[in-house]
Amino acid sequence: MDVDIGNALGTTPGVTTGVLDRLDDRVADAHETITDGMANDAFGYAALNLPETADPDAIRSAVDRYDDPEAVLTVGIGGSALGAATLANALDSEVDAYFLDNVDPDQARRLLAELPLSETVVNVVSNSGTTAETLANFLVVREAMDRADVDWTDRTFVTTGGEGNLRRLAEKHDLPALDVPAGVPGRFSVLSTVGLAVAALQGHDVEAILRGGADGRENLSGSLYDSPAYAYGAVSYALARRGATTNAMMPYAESLETFAEWFAQLWAESLGKDGVGQTPVRALGATDQHSQLQLYRAGPREKLVTLLRPRERADVSIPETDLEGLSYLGGSSLGELLDAEFEATEASLAAAERPNVRIEIDRVDERSLGELLYGMEAACVLYGELDGVETFTQPAVEWGKKAARGLLGGGEFEEAEAVSDKRELV
Ligand code: PA5
Repeated sequence: MDVDIGNALGTTPGVTTGVLDRLDDRVADAHETITDGMANDAFGYAALNLPETADPDAIRSAVDRYDDPEAVLTVGIGGSALGAATLANALDSEVDAYFLDNVDPDQARRLLAELPLSETVVNVVSNSGTTAETLANFLVVREAMDRADVDWTDRTFVTTGGEGNLRRLAEKHDLPALDVPAGVPGRFSVLSTVGLAVAALQGHDVEAILRGGADGRENLSGSLYDSPAYAYGAVSYALARRGATTNAMMPYAESLETFAEWFAQLWAESLGKDGVGQTPVRALGATDQHSQLQLYRAGPREKLVTLLRPRERADVSIPETDLEGLSYLGGSSLGELLDAEFEATEASLAAAERPNVRIEIDRVDERSLGELLYGMEAACVLYGELDGVETFTQPAVEWGKKAARGLLGGGEFEEAEAVSDKRELV
Protein backbone atom coordinates (compact mmCIF):
# COMPACT_ATOMS: atom_id res chain seq x y z
CA MET A 1 0.00 0.00 0.00
CA ASP A 2 1.39 3.40 -0.94
CA VAL A 3 0.16 6.65 0.52
CA ASP A 4 0.94 9.96 -1.19
CA ILE A 5 0.29 12.97 1.07
CA GLY A 6 1.78 15.56 -1.30
CA ASN A 7 -1.61 17.05 -2.11
CA ALA A 8 -2.29 17.83 1.56
CA LEU A 9 0.55 20.37 1.53
CA GLY A 10 -0.13 23.98 0.65
CA THR A 11 -3.90 23.54 0.53
CA THR A 12 -6.65 25.14 2.62
CA PRO A 13 -6.97 23.66 5.13
CA GLY A 14 -3.55 22.14 4.74
CA VAL A 15 -0.34 21.20 6.41
CA THR A 16 3.25 22.29 5.81
CA THR A 17 6.41 20.24 5.99
CA GLY A 18 7.21 22.10 9.22
CA VAL A 19 3.92 20.95 10.75
CA LEU A 20 4.62 17.38 9.72
CA ASP A 21 8.18 17.47 11.05
CA ARG A 22 6.93 18.66 14.43
CA LEU A 23 4.11 16.11 14.40
CA ASP A 24 6.61 13.35 13.70
CA ASP A 25 7.97 13.57 17.28
CA ARG A 26 4.45 12.89 18.54
CA VAL A 27 4.09 10.02 16.04
CA ALA A 28 7.23 8.46 17.57
CA ASP A 29 5.70 8.70 21.08
CA ALA A 30 2.36 7.34 19.87
CA HIS A 31 4.12 4.47 18.12
CA GLU A 32 5.77 3.57 21.42
CA THR A 33 2.38 3.48 23.14
CA ILE A 34 0.98 1.36 20.30
CA THR A 35 3.85 -1.14 20.33
CA ASP A 36 3.64 -1.41 24.14
CA GLY A 37 -0.08 -2.12 23.84
CA MET A 38 0.60 -4.72 21.17
CA ALA A 39 3.34 -6.38 23.22
CA ASN A 40 0.88 -6.76 26.11
CA ASP A 41 -2.05 -7.75 23.90
CA ALA A 42 -3.87 -4.88 25.59
CA PHE A 43 -7.54 -4.22 24.76
CA GLY A 44 -7.83 -2.88 21.22
CA TYR A 45 -4.11 -2.96 20.45
CA ALA A 46 -4.44 -6.77 20.33
CA ALA A 47 -6.19 -6.30 16.97
CA LEU A 48 -2.92 -5.12 15.45
CA ASN A 49 -1.40 -8.53 16.32
CA LEU A 50 -4.06 -10.49 14.43
CA PRO A 51 -1.89 -11.16 11.35
CA GLU A 52 0.26 -13.25 13.71
CA THR A 53 -2.30 -14.51 16.21
CA ALA A 54 -5.23 -15.49 13.95
CA ASP A 55 -5.34 -19.21 13.23
CA PRO A 56 -6.39 -19.86 9.62
CA ASP A 57 -6.37 -23.64 10.11
CA ALA A 58 -8.86 -23.43 12.98
CA ILE A 59 -11.09 -21.15 10.91
CA ARG A 60 -10.94 -23.43 7.91
CA SER A 61 -11.61 -26.60 9.88
CA ALA A 62 -14.66 -24.98 11.51
CA VAL A 63 -16.23 -24.24 8.13
CA ASP A 64 -14.99 -27.27 6.17
CA ARG A 65 -17.86 -29.34 7.54
CA TYR A 66 -20.20 -27.49 5.14
CA ASP A 67 -19.94 -29.23 1.81
CA ASP A 68 -20.28 -27.03 -1.25
CA PRO A 69 -22.75 -24.46 0.10
CA GLU A 70 -24.48 -22.28 -2.46
CA ALA A 71 -24.60 -19.30 -0.11
CA VAL A 72 -23.48 -18.04 3.26
CA LEU A 73 -25.68 -15.71 5.27
CA THR A 74 -24.01 -13.62 7.96
CA VAL A 75 -26.35 -12.38 10.65
CA GLY A 76 -24.51 -9.61 12.49
CA ILE A 77 -24.26 -5.82 12.58
CA GLY A 78 -21.57 -3.12 12.60
CA GLY A 79 -18.14 -4.57 13.19
CA SER A 80 -19.64 -8.05 13.17
CA ALA A 81 -20.67 -7.74 9.52
CA LEU A 82 -18.78 -5.00 7.70
CA GLY A 83 -15.33 -6.65 7.63
CA ALA A 84 -16.64 -9.88 6.18
CA ALA A 85 -18.84 -7.90 3.75
CA THR A 86 -15.82 -5.86 2.60
CA LEU A 87 -13.90 -9.01 1.70
CA ALA A 88 -16.94 -10.73 0.20
CA ASN A 89 -17.85 -7.78 -2.00
CA ALA A 90 -14.27 -7.22 -3.13
CA LEU A 91 -13.41 -10.80 -4.13
CA ASP A 92 -15.17 -13.09 -6.60
CA SER A 93 -16.52 -16.41 -5.37
CA GLU A 94 -18.95 -19.11 -6.47
CA VAL A 95 -20.42 -19.08 -2.96
CA ASP A 96 -22.73 -16.09 -2.65
CA ALA A 97 -22.42 -14.05 0.53
CA TYR A 98 -25.45 -12.32 2.04
CA PHE A 99 -25.62 -10.08 5.09
CA LEU A 100 -28.56 -9.49 7.37
CA ASP A 101 -27.60 -6.58 9.61
CA ASN A 102 -30.48 -4.14 9.77
CA VAL A 103 -33.81 -5.12 11.29
CA ASP A 104 -35.87 -3.78 8.43
CA PRO A 105 -38.81 -6.21 8.00
CA ASP A 106 -39.02 -5.61 4.23
CA GLN A 107 -35.37 -6.41 3.79
CA ALA A 108 -35.58 -9.55 5.96
CA ARG A 109 -38.66 -10.80 4.06
CA ARG A 110 -37.10 -10.19 0.66
CA LEU A 111 -33.82 -11.81 1.59
CA LEU A 112 -35.44 -14.92 3.05
CA ALA A 113 -37.58 -15.31 -0.06
CA GLU A 114 -34.49 -15.13 -2.25
CA LEU A 115 -32.13 -17.40 -0.30
CA PRO A 116 -31.79 -21.10 -1.14
CA LEU A 117 -32.20 -21.97 2.57
CA SER A 118 -31.39 -25.66 2.26
CA GLU A 119 -28.08 -24.78 0.56
CA THR A 120 -27.20 -21.85 2.82
CA VAL A 121 -24.80 -21.79 5.75
CA VAL A 122 -25.79 -19.31 8.47
CA ASN A 123 -23.07 -17.52 10.42
CA VAL A 124 -24.41 -15.66 13.47
CA VAL A 125 -21.85 -13.14 14.66
CA SER A 126 -21.96 -11.09 17.83
CA ASN A 127 -18.92 -10.31 19.93
CA SER A 128 -21.01 -9.41 22.98
CA GLY A 129 -23.59 -12.07 22.18
CA THR A 130 -26.32 -9.68 23.30
CA THR A 131 -27.02 -7.39 20.34
CA ALA A 132 -30.80 -7.21 19.86
CA GLU A 133 -30.73 -6.73 16.08
CA THR A 134 -28.55 -9.79 15.51
CA LEU A 135 -30.43 -12.10 17.86
CA ALA A 136 -33.82 -10.99 16.55
CA ASN A 137 -32.73 -11.51 12.95
CA PHE A 138 -31.39 -14.92 13.79
CA LEU A 139 -34.68 -15.97 15.40
CA VAL A 140 -36.45 -14.90 12.21
CA VAL A 141 -33.99 -16.83 10.00
CA ARG A 142 -34.26 -19.90 12.22
CA GLU A 143 -38.04 -19.90 11.96
CA ALA A 144 -37.84 -19.53 8.17
CA MET A 145 -35.54 -22.56 8.03
CA ASP A 146 -37.91 -24.55 10.22
CA ARG A 147 -40.78 -23.64 7.91
CA ALA A 148 -38.74 -24.75 4.91
CA ASP A 149 -38.01 -28.07 6.66
CA VAL A 150 -34.30 -27.30 6.85
CA ASP A 151 -32.49 -28.48 9.97
CA TRP A 152 -31.00 -25.13 10.99
CA THR A 153 -28.78 -26.74 13.64
CA ASP A 154 -27.01 -28.54 10.80
CA ARG A 155 -26.38 -25.37 8.85
CA THR A 156 -25.63 -22.77 11.53
CA PHE A 157 -22.45 -21.80 13.33
CA VAL A 158 -21.83 -18.87 15.64
CA THR A 159 -18.91 -16.51 16.11
CA THR A 160 -18.91 -14.88 19.50
CA GLY A 161 -16.81 -13.70 22.45
CA GLY A 162 -17.49 -13.94 26.16
CA GLU A 163 -20.51 -15.66 27.63
CA GLY A 164 -23.48 -13.77 26.18
CA ASN A 165 -26.83 -15.14 25.02
CA LEU A 166 -25.40 -16.27 21.71
CA ARG A 167 -22.88 -18.54 23.44
CA ARG A 168 -25.71 -20.05 25.52
CA LEU A 169 -27.78 -20.60 22.40
CA ALA A 170 -24.85 -22.35 20.71
CA GLU A 171 -24.32 -24.55 23.74
CA LYS A 172 -27.99 -25.45 24.02
CA HIS A 173 -28.19 -26.58 20.40
CA ASP A 174 -24.67 -27.91 20.14
CA LEU A 175 -23.79 -25.48 17.36
CA PRO A 176 -20.17 -25.11 16.26
CA ALA A 177 -18.73 -21.90 17.74
CA LEU A 178 -15.76 -19.81 16.73
CA ASP A 179 -14.31 -17.45 19.36
CA VAL A 180 -13.80 -13.75 18.79
CA PRO A 181 -10.30 -13.25 20.19
CA ALA A 182 -10.09 -11.36 23.49
CA GLY A 183 -9.25 -7.67 23.28
CA VAL A 184 -10.45 -7.20 19.68
CA PRO A 185 -13.27 -4.63 19.28
CA GLY A 186 -15.84 -5.29 16.55
CA ARG A 187 -14.67 -2.73 14.02
CA PHE A 188 -11.07 -3.98 14.36
CA SER A 189 -11.99 -7.65 13.94
CA VAL A 190 -11.86 -8.17 10.18
CA LEU A 191 -8.58 -10.11 10.37
CA SER A 192 -10.00 -12.50 12.99
CA THR A 193 -12.63 -15.26 12.96
CA VAL A 194 -15.21 -12.48 12.49
CA GLY A 195 -14.04 -11.45 9.04
CA LEU A 196 -12.24 -14.57 7.93
CA ALA A 197 -14.79 -17.36 8.43
CA VAL A 198 -16.93 -16.12 5.54
CA ALA A 199 -13.80 -15.64 3.43
CA ALA A 200 -12.82 -19.26 4.13
CA LEU A 201 -16.30 -20.49 3.23
CA GLN A 202 -16.10 -18.57 -0.02
CA GLY A 203 -12.83 -20.30 -0.84
CA HIS A 204 -10.60 -17.23 -0.49
CA ASP A 205 -6.95 -17.46 0.46
CA VAL A 206 -7.14 -16.59 4.16
CA GLU A 207 -3.37 -16.96 4.62
CA ALA A 208 -2.79 -14.35 1.91
CA ILE A 209 -5.16 -11.91 3.65
CA LEU A 210 -3.17 -12.36 6.86
CA ARG A 211 0.10 -12.08 4.95
CA GLY A 212 -1.06 -8.70 3.69
CA GLY A 213 -1.85 -7.70 7.26
CA ALA A 214 1.59 -8.89 8.35
CA ASP A 215 3.18 -6.72 5.64
CA GLY A 216 1.24 -3.77 7.04
CA ARG A 217 2.48 -4.61 10.53
CA GLU A 218 6.09 -4.77 9.31
CA ASN A 219 5.70 -1.29 7.88
CA LEU A 220 4.82 0.39 11.17
CA SER A 221 7.68 2.51 12.40
CA GLY A 222 8.24 5.50 14.66
CA SER A 223 8.06 7.98 11.79
CA LEU A 224 5.21 9.01 9.54
CA TYR A 225 7.75 9.36 6.74
CA ASP A 226 8.55 5.63 6.87
CA SER A 227 5.10 4.19 7.47
CA PRO A 228 2.30 4.66 4.91
CA ALA A 229 -0.38 3.85 7.50
CA TYR A 230 0.96 6.40 9.96
CA ALA A 231 1.38 8.98 7.19
CA TYR A 232 -2.33 8.65 6.49
CA GLY A 233 -3.35 8.72 10.16
CA ALA A 234 -1.09 11.66 11.01
CA VAL A 235 -2.09 13.78 8.01
CA SER A 236 -5.80 13.09 8.52
CA TYR A 237 -5.42 14.13 12.17
CA ALA A 238 -3.42 17.28 11.34
CA LEU A 239 -5.93 18.30 8.67
CA ALA A 240 -8.90 17.70 10.97
CA ARG A 241 -7.28 19.91 13.61
CA ARG A 242 -6.99 22.62 10.95
CA GLY A 243 -10.59 22.38 9.84
CA ALA A 244 -10.89 19.33 7.55
CA THR A 245 -13.51 17.76 9.76
CA THR A 246 -14.88 15.60 6.91
CA ASN A 247 -13.02 12.78 5.20
CA ALA A 248 -14.51 11.51 1.93
CA MET A 249 -13.23 8.00 1.19
CA MET A 250 -13.49 7.59 -2.58
CA PRO A 251 -12.32 4.28 -4.03
CA TYR A 252 -12.07 4.01 -7.80
CA ALA A 253 -13.28 0.39 -7.91
CA GLU A 254 -16.84 -0.82 -7.46
CA SER A 255 -15.47 -3.83 -5.61
CA LEU A 256 -14.18 -1.50 -2.89
CA GLU A 257 -17.48 0.29 -2.26
CA THR A 258 -18.11 -1.75 0.88
CA PHE A 259 -14.56 -0.98 1.99
CA ALA A 260 -15.62 2.69 2.16
CA GLU A 261 -18.49 1.64 4.40
CA TRP A 262 -16.14 -0.36 6.62
CA PHE A 263 -13.77 2.61 6.77
CA ALA A 264 -16.63 4.93 7.72
CA GLN A 265 -17.48 2.76 10.72
CA LEU A 266 -13.85 2.46 11.77
CA TRP A 267 -13.25 6.20 11.59
CA ALA A 268 -16.56 7.37 13.08
CA GLU A 269 -16.95 4.91 15.93
CA SER A 270 -13.29 5.04 16.95
CA LEU A 271 -12.49 8.73 16.64
CA GLY A 272 -15.81 10.53 17.21
CA LYS A 273 -15.45 11.34 20.91
CA ASP A 274 -15.12 14.21 23.38
CA GLY A 275 -16.28 16.74 20.79
CA VAL A 276 -13.59 15.81 18.25
CA GLY A 277 -13.37 13.45 15.27
CA GLN A 278 -13.52 13.51 11.49
CA THR A 279 -16.80 12.67 9.78
CA PRO A 280 -16.27 9.94 7.19
CA VAL A 281 -18.23 10.17 3.97
CA ARG A 282 -18.55 7.31 1.49
CA ALA A 283 -18.04 8.10 -2.15
CA LEU A 284 -17.30 6.09 -5.27
CA GLY A 285 -15.19 7.05 -8.26
CA ALA A 286 -16.03 7.76 -11.01
CA THR A 287 -19.76 7.72 -10.15
CA ASP A 288 -19.54 10.49 -7.56
CA GLN A 289 -17.59 12.74 -9.90
CA HIS A 290 -21.04 13.31 -11.34
CA SER A 291 -22.55 14.30 -8.02
CA GLN A 292 -20.48 14.96 -4.90
CA LEU A 293 -17.31 16.21 -6.57
CA GLN A 294 -18.87 19.60 -7.19
CA LEU A 295 -19.15 20.05 -3.42
CA TYR A 296 -15.70 18.64 -2.73
CA ARG A 297 -14.02 21.10 -5.08
CA ALA A 298 -16.14 24.17 -4.54
CA GLY A 299 -18.05 23.78 -1.28
CA PRO A 300 -16.96 24.57 2.27
CA ARG A 301 -13.27 24.04 2.94
CA GLU A 302 -13.76 21.40 5.62
CA LYS A 303 -12.86 18.29 3.68
CA LEU A 304 -10.10 15.85 3.03
CA VAL A 305 -10.72 13.63 0.00
CA THR A 306 -9.04 10.22 0.07
CA LEU A 307 -8.63 8.76 -3.40
CA LEU A 308 -8.03 5.02 -3.45
CA ARG A 309 -7.30 2.79 -6.42
CA PRO A 310 -5.75 -0.53 -7.37
CA ARG A 311 -2.72 -0.16 -9.65
CA GLU A 312 -3.73 -3.18 -11.71
CA ARG A 313 -7.12 -4.54 -12.71
CA ALA A 314 -8.59 -6.94 -15.25
CA ASP A 315 -9.56 -4.58 -18.04
CA VAL A 316 -12.26 -4.30 -20.68
CA SER A 317 -11.30 -2.72 -23.99
CA ILE A 318 -13.54 -0.13 -25.57
CA PRO A 319 -14.55 -1.13 -29.12
CA GLU A 320 -13.47 1.05 -32.01
CA THR A 321 -16.08 3.31 -33.51
CA ASP A 322 -16.04 5.66 -36.48
CA LEU A 323 -18.82 7.75 -34.97
CA GLU A 324 -17.71 11.34 -35.17
CA GLY A 325 -16.49 12.63 -31.83
CA LEU A 326 -16.26 9.19 -30.24
CA SER A 327 -13.26 7.77 -32.06
CA TYR A 328 -10.97 8.91 -29.22
CA LEU A 329 -12.50 6.21 -27.00
CA GLY A 330 -11.92 3.30 -29.37
CA GLY A 331 -8.75 1.32 -28.72
CA SER A 332 -8.68 2.52 -25.13
CA SER A 333 -10.14 0.63 -22.16
CA LEU A 334 -12.57 1.16 -19.29
CA GLY A 335 -9.66 0.82 -16.86
CA GLU A 336 -7.69 3.54 -18.66
CA LEU A 337 -10.73 5.77 -18.60
CA LEU A 338 -11.22 5.14 -14.87
CA ASP A 339 -7.56 5.96 -14.22
CA ALA A 340 -7.88 9.14 -16.23
CA GLU A 341 -10.94 10.08 -14.14
CA PHE A 342 -8.97 9.38 -10.94
CA GLU A 343 -6.08 11.56 -12.01
CA ALA A 344 -8.40 14.30 -13.24
CA THR A 345 -10.19 14.41 -9.90
CA GLU A 346 -6.91 14.50 -8.02
CA ALA A 347 -5.56 17.30 -10.19
CA SER A 348 -8.78 19.27 -10.07
CA LEU A 349 -8.87 19.15 -6.26
CA ALA A 350 -5.19 20.12 -6.09
CA ALA A 351 -5.75 23.02 -8.50
CA ALA A 352 -8.49 24.29 -6.20
CA GLU A 353 -6.11 23.86 -3.21
CA ARG A 354 -8.34 21.22 -1.63
CA PRO A 355 -6.46 18.62 0.42
CA ASN A 356 -6.47 15.11 -0.96
CA VAL A 357 -4.45 11.98 -0.32
CA ARG A 358 -3.77 9.17 -2.79
CA ILE A 359 -3.76 5.56 -1.60
CA GLU A 360 -2.77 2.82 -4.03
CA ILE A 361 -2.85 -0.93 -3.59
CA ASP A 362 -1.36 -3.43 -6.04
CA ARG A 363 -4.68 -4.97 -7.05
CA VAL A 364 -7.94 -6.08 -5.45
CA ASP A 365 -6.78 -9.44 -4.15
CA GLU A 366 -6.46 -11.12 -0.79
CA ARG A 367 -2.96 -9.89 0.04
CA SER A 368 -3.55 -6.27 -0.90
CA LEU A 369 -6.88 -6.19 0.93
CA GLY A 370 -5.24 -7.56 4.08
CA GLU A 371 -2.61 -4.85 3.87
CA LEU A 372 -5.16 -2.10 3.20
CA LEU A 373 -7.47 -3.12 6.05
CA TYR A 374 -4.57 -3.45 8.47
CA GLY A 375 -3.12 -0.13 7.31
CA MET A 376 -6.36 1.75 7.90
CA GLU A 377 -6.72 0.20 11.36
CA ALA A 378 -3.18 1.28 12.26
CA ALA A 379 -3.86 4.76 10.83
CA CYS A 380 -6.96 5.00 12.97
CA VAL A 381 -5.17 3.87 16.13
CA LEU A 382 -2.42 6.43 15.53
CA TYR A 383 -4.98 9.21 14.91
CA GLY A 384 -6.71 8.28 18.18
CA GLU A 385 -3.42 8.47 20.09
CA LEU A 386 -2.60 11.87 18.59
CA ASP A 387 -6.07 13.19 19.42
CA GLY A 388 -6.06 11.70 22.93
CA VAL A 389 -9.35 9.79 22.56
CA GLU A 390 -10.31 6.28 23.66
CA THR A 391 -10.18 4.72 20.21
CA PHE A 392 -11.44 1.30 21.25
CA THR A 393 -14.61 2.20 23.13
CA GLN A 394 -18.01 3.24 21.75
CA PRO A 395 -20.14 4.58 24.63
CA ALA A 396 -22.63 6.32 22.33
CA VAL A 397 -23.25 3.10 20.41
CA GLU A 398 -23.67 1.15 23.65
CA TRP A 399 -26.17 3.74 24.89
CA GLY A 400 -28.45 3.08 21.94
CA LYS A 401 -28.07 -0.68 22.23
CA LYS A 402 -29.12 -0.67 25.87
CA ALA A 403 -31.99 1.72 25.26
CA ALA A 404 -33.42 -0.47 22.48
CA ARG A 405 -33.12 -3.64 24.54
CA GLY A 406 -34.71 -1.99 27.56
CA LEU A 407 -37.63 -0.62 25.51
CA LEU A 408 -38.47 -4.14 24.34
CA GLY A 409 -38.33 -5.45 27.92
CA GLY A 410 -34.87 -7.00 27.64
CA GLY A 411 -33.56 -5.58 30.92
CA GLU A 412 -33.62 -2.58 33.25
CA PHE A 413 -31.52 0.14 31.67
CA GLU A 414 -31.53 3.83 32.59
CA GLU A 415 -31.01 4.56 28.86
CA ALA A 416 -34.41 3.00 28.14
CA GLU A 417 -35.99 5.06 30.92
CA ALA A 418 -34.61 8.22 29.31
CA VAL A 419 -36.35 7.27 26.04
CA SER A 420 -39.60 6.46 27.87
CA ASP A 421 -39.50 9.85 29.63
CA LYS A 422 -39.03 11.55 26.27
CA ARG A 423 -41.91 9.55 24.77
CA GLU A 424 -44.20 10.76 27.53
CA LEU A 425 -43.31 14.34 26.78
CA VAL A 426 -44.32 14.03 23.12
O1 PA5 B 1 -17.29 -1.88 16.64
C1 PA5 B 1 -18.14 -2.17 17.47
O2 PA5 B 1 -17.86 -2.44 18.65
C2 PA5 B 1 -19.62 -2.23 17.11
O3 PA5 B 1 -19.86 -1.71 15.87
C3 PA5 B 1 -20.10 -3.67 17.17
O4 PA5 B 1 -19.38 -4.43 16.23
C4 PA5 B 1 -21.61 -3.78 16.87
O5 PA5 B 1 -22.33 -2.95 17.74
C5 PA5 B 1 -22.07 -5.23 17.03
O6 PA5 B 1 -21.77 -5.69 18.31
P1 PA5 B 1 -21.75 -7.22 18.64
O7 PA5 B 1 -20.66 -7.86 17.86
O8 PA5 B 1 -21.48 -7.28 20.12
O9 PA5 B 1 -23.09 -7.79 18.30
